[in-house]
Formats: sequence, structure tokens, C-alpha cells
Amino acid sequence: MNESEQPDPSQDRLEAFAADEREIRARHESNRRGWNEGAAHGYTPMVEDTIAFIRQGKSNLHPVERSYLASILPGCSLAIHLQCASGKDTLSLLNEGVKKVIGIDISDVQIENARRTSEALGAPAEWYRCDVLDAPAALNGTADLVYTGRGALCWMHDLDGWAGVIARLLKPGGCVSVFDDHPVTWLFRQDTPDYQFSNTDYFHTCASSVGWPETYIGDIGTPLEKQARKYECLWPIASVFQALTRAGLTVVHLGEHPEPYWEMFPHLKPELRGMIPQTFSILAVKK
Ligand SMILES: C[S@@+](CC[C@H](N)C(=O)[O-])C[C@H]1O[C@@H](n2cnc3c(N)ncnc32)[C@H](O)[C@@H]1O
Repeated sequence: MNESEQPDPSQDRLEAFAADEREIRARHESNRRGWNEGAAHGYTPMVEDTIAFIRQGKSNLHPVERSYLASILPGCSLAIHLQCASGKDTLSLLNEGVKKVIGIDISDVQIENARRTSEALGAPAEWYRCDVLDAPAALNGTADLVYTGRGALCWMHDLDGWAGVIARLLKPGGCVSVFDDHPVTWLFRQDTPDYQFSNTDYFHTCASSVGWPETYIGDIGTPLEKQARKYECLWPIASVFQALTRAGLTVVHLGEHPEPYWEMFPHLKPELRGMIPQTFSILAVKK
């Protein structure tokens, strides 16, 4: 066996940037099935809990998001939330002053939960179950704010397609907010008490896996071989910035933050916390 025939030690690593349209769609479809499985097994906050939370006037926005969105949300007529899951964050935008929200998600289970929740609340909300890449053309040019993040970008396998959708949904003068995992977090193992390199290529990583991490959804009670394969990409910050710029948007804010929005490194020693960025934020405007 010569060197080129050696088995790849990380067989679930893919060439993200070699994906053609058919491969992108196949990965997204597999992710839809994976998210239906995950959402049906406890990832999703209970519909009843979300109803009570929103009724009490609460908001699930992260303090980092609120810091740069505070002046934008109260005057916002329509926010479109891409990858809205079961709608808790989407409906939270109403409690932040947004007049109407639209949520888009590929998972049937998530959208069904979101619908049930907003119907119970009588909230000014609409839901679309579709791939972000297929966001309905009827929504073009309607959004004051496109809101996304917190575990969203990694599921996109066509970053230019994603940025193009954002640009077409926005009104002139509207803006997009992205607050998501910092890609540098991919470089470290999640199961160690200190920062250990995970052998991840920062510039070319797309990975596929079955099952869910313990820190996240955990065991869903289905044998791994029966679960859908899920595909995720590491998008360097510069790639996100450039995709938005290529789509004609102007980045007016870029932040890197030590604050996480979920516990990615549960075993990390306390004195090591805050030493790497765990999240980043972008605000970009359609001029
Ligand atoms: C980690 S969750 C995002 C949670 C979100 N921040 C929230 O409001 O709670 C990722 C979501 O992306 C959705 N998703 C994954 N790929 C998608 C795609 N191609 N188009 C639309 N939604 C997608 C999944 O169904 C899942 O609900």
C-alpha cells in the first residue's frame, strides 16, 4: 500500500469546499433528518415552557447580542430568523420590541413546535419549513433584520448561497445579525481539562458524525447506525466576512467574545476560561 492509499485516520472528515450543488443538498437533507431526530428527543425547550417564558415577557437573547442590537430592535417592523429551531429565540425578539417575526428552519419537528407555540400565544409570527437556501422569494426585500446564529452557521454548506439569501431578504437599510460559535473553538478538544489541539484544519474542515454530544442532546435512544448522518463545516471568520461582503452587505460591527452561549468545554479548569474567544458577532447592513 503506498502513502496515498493509507486509510484516512479521521474518516468522517470531508472536503467542505469541494461540495457541488447536489452534494450540498444531500448534506442539508441528511441534516434535516438528523435535526428531526434530535429535536424529538429533548434538545428543544418544551413548547409549554416556551409559552410561559414568552408570556412572562422574557427574552432569550444573549447579552452580547443585546449589546449591539439594543438600538435596532425597538424600531424593527419585521425580523426574519434563519434556523429558528422551535422558535424560542424568534419569539423572544417580540419581547425585545420587534413587531412581527418570521422563522425559517429545515426541521419539520422544530417548525411544528414553533407553530404550536405561537398559535397558543396568538403571536404575530409566521413559520416556513424549508432550507435556508430556499427561503421563499415572497419574502425578498421585506426584513428590517435578519437574525441568525447560536449553532447555525456550521450547518450551512454553501456560505455564498447563505449570504445571498440574507441579502435578498433584507430591505435596503436593513441589517443582519450573526452571533455564533467562534471557529477557533473547533481547534480544541471538548473532553479535556486544558486546551488540547484537536487536529482540526482551521481552513478546510467539514465533518460528519452520527449521534449527539453528551453536552448537547446526548443519547436519543436510537442505535447510532439507525440515526441520520449530520454534516457540519468550520467557517473561518474571514470566510463569513467575505461571503457577506460579496453579497453586497457592509459589515459595520465585528466582535470576538469570551462569553459562550452553551457549555462547549465542560471539563475545562476555571482558571483557563475566558482565554480563547468562544463566540463572534457580526452586524452587516444592506446599503
Ligand atoms: C443549533 S440549532 C439553532 C438554534 C437557534 N439558535 C435557536 O433559535 O435556538 C440549528 C438549527 O438549524 C436548523 N438547520 C440546519 N440546517 C438547516 C438548513 N439548511 N436550513 C434551515 N435550517 C437548518 C436545524 O433544524 C436546527 O433547528
